[in-house]
Amino acid sequence: MLQKRYLKKPPMDRAMLVFFAVLFGASSIVIPIQGQLDQSGFLSIDCGLPANTNYTYGATGISYVSDSTFIDTGVTKPISASYNVPSLGLQFRYVRSFPTDSGAKNCYTFRLTKGKKHLIRARFMYGNYDSKNQLPEFGLYLGVTLWDTVEIVDASKVVDKEIIHVASSNSIDLCIMDTGFGTPFISVIELRILSNYNLYESTISGSMVTYLRYDIGSQSTDIVRYRDDAYDRLWYPVGNSPSWKTISTTSSIGVTTGQNSYVVPSKTMQTAVTPTDPSQPLNFSLPQVDPNTGFKFYLHFSEIEQLQSNESRIFNITLNGDVWYGNLGPRYLGLTTIGSTGQSISQGYYNFSLVKVNNSTRPPLLNAIEAYTVVDILESQTAQDDAGSMRSIKSTYGLKNKNWQGDPCAPETYRWDGINCNYDNPNSSRIISLNLSSSGLTGQITPYIGDLKSLGTLDLSYNNLTGGVPDFLAQLPSLKVLLDGNPYLCSSTSCQNGSSSNGQKHANNLGVAIGASLGSLLVIIVAGFVLFFYLKVRPTKQQSQSQSFWTFGSSVRKFFF
Ligand SMILES: *[C@@H]1O[C@H](CO)[C@@H](O)[C@H](O)[C@H]1NC(C)=O
Ligand SMILES: *[C@@H]1O[C@H](CO)[C@@H](O)[C@H](O)[C@H]1NC(C)=O
Ligand SMILES: *[C@@H]1O[C@H](CO)[C@@H](O)[C@H](O)[C@H]1NC(C)=O
Ligand SMILES: *[C@@H]1O[C@H](CO)[C@@H](O)[C@H](O)[C@H]1NC(C)=O
Repeated sequence: MLQKRYLKKPPMDRAMLVFFAVLFGASSIVIPIQGQLDQSGFLSIDCGLPANTNYTYGATGISYVSDSTFIDTGVTKPISASYNVPSLGLQFRYVRSFPTDSGAKNCYTFRLTKGKKHLIRARFMYGNYDSKNQLPEFGLYLGVTLWDTVEIVDASKVVDKEIIHVASSNSIDLCIMDTGFGTPFISVIELRILSNYNLYESTISGSMVTYLRYDIGSQSTDIVRYRDDAYDRLWYPVGNSPSWKTISTTSSIGVTTGQNSYVVPSKTMQTAVTPTDPSQPLNFSLPQVDPNTGFKFYLHFSEIEQLQSNESRIFNITLNGDVWYGNLGPRYLGLTTIGSTGQSISQGYYNFSLVKVNNSTRPPLLNAIEAYTVVDILESQTAQDDAGSMRSIKSTYGLKNKNWQGDPCAPETYRWDGINCNYDNPNSSRIISLNLSSSGLTGQITPYIGDLKSLGTLDLSYNNLTGGVPDFLAQLPSLKVLLDGNPYLCSSTSCQNGSSSNGQKHANNLGVAIGASLGSLLVIIVAGFVLFFYLKVRPTKQQSQSQSFWTFGSSVRKFFF
């Protein structure tokens, strides 16, 4: 067992507390039906739901499908009955879990639309599905990059991980990595195309990981989402605090009075907070986060009190003491967003203060806030041809019970079993050895192996391969091939079907035969020892894993008012 490097658990933060209430409180979500809303850019997956089943969840109208067509591995389990309370969203009743024999790396592969901006959300609710009451912690990867660490601290609470990512290809892997701290699992995956590419940022330098998204001053325990939010962002209710006063309106925000491209749901904007003492500023902070992590903030404002002509609400926004935005006077029932543009900020702590200007008659207010961290997601790393040919080899031989998922070479600690890679080019790693010894291979040697142009060693020994040894093996320069222990393999291409009796030779004779017929092909039989030691140089998984894992802090969501 590895030593746990990150021992300090975050205190139960506000978002979590409120979320707890959502799960167990009265769940009567009123959905105002708006026009032009559909789920055409949505893919909503209930992980662990029995294969080929689907349903529409009444509270949101979102249709969920089983995850069985997106992943080959893992086991499906219902959560424990005592956690399956009526107010719990249907999509949390099942999980897919990945016990040790599923391998350390388990990936879902999804189609995305290249060039489009996507909201990708993974949700986790343990619910003691394995009856072990062991709260796990594991890694969540998008492509080959650690997106976040999933830390389950309460069996009844939902942990959400969300990212806004512009797809650079038409598919992406979402991988769940066993890091040695308990059995990983997943409850829900939701993908949404953000039809407005300019939402948040039009020039993207990295992907945006949601750190918090709060519906400030909410008097409800419900998360606001689709269909209030056409993009299905989750707005977590943040209600009472001694230092603020809640104000609200029943009028719609932004419908006729000026919406902006952030299209924050009216329901979210209808509530706000002002300081309890109107002479004081409205302060909130995000103290002590990783100073290397870049943040982006979006503060949303709407005047929701009808002011007389002799009244005003004008304030400055300061961040860590510097004016971030000056003389803001939110319009009545309009939507005004003050957000980070361009570079993210990395200062390690973030103290916001909303301070009224001298002649303002009303104190500042705040309706909603979002914070994101910026992370560079690398979707794939293995050279495209090599990755494609590995996937073809996998499907040709029906190799399911391996960790052959996601990118073959990356992340390096979760490299596919039986391969070695050359990492000299960090965006185009090449496969240099493939070991399919004793893998139960049947049928002929697949020509896809011939597409691995950098292959130096190929071990196909101890299988039940039939047919001939194909010419393409001879065309790979300096390739070492081990074919020992394939009793029905023929020595030449003229016996492809393995049916011609004079073409069949036993493995003992094979080396000589191929050596004679395929000049440049070097076939090594029996000399496994030398290669065995040569390939053994690779470090063990456990060692490298503990070094490279904690590159991003877990998302401790503190937001103090
Ligand atoms: C849901 O299942 C029904 C019947 O099994 C099927 O006709 C329908 O296409 C499915 N819907 C989705 C979104 O998969
Ligand atoms: C605004 O005018 C009204 C009367 O029209 C008065 O009662 C109120 O005190 C004034 N408010 C301020 C802040 O001057
Ligand atoms: C507040 O003062 C500024 C100048 O300092 C002035 O432009 C603005 O009109 C004043 N607003 C009110 C409501 O008196
Ligand atoms: C391939 O793997 C097997 C067992 O996993 C090992 O015995 C053999 O030496 C490996 N082949 C090479 C070329 O390293």
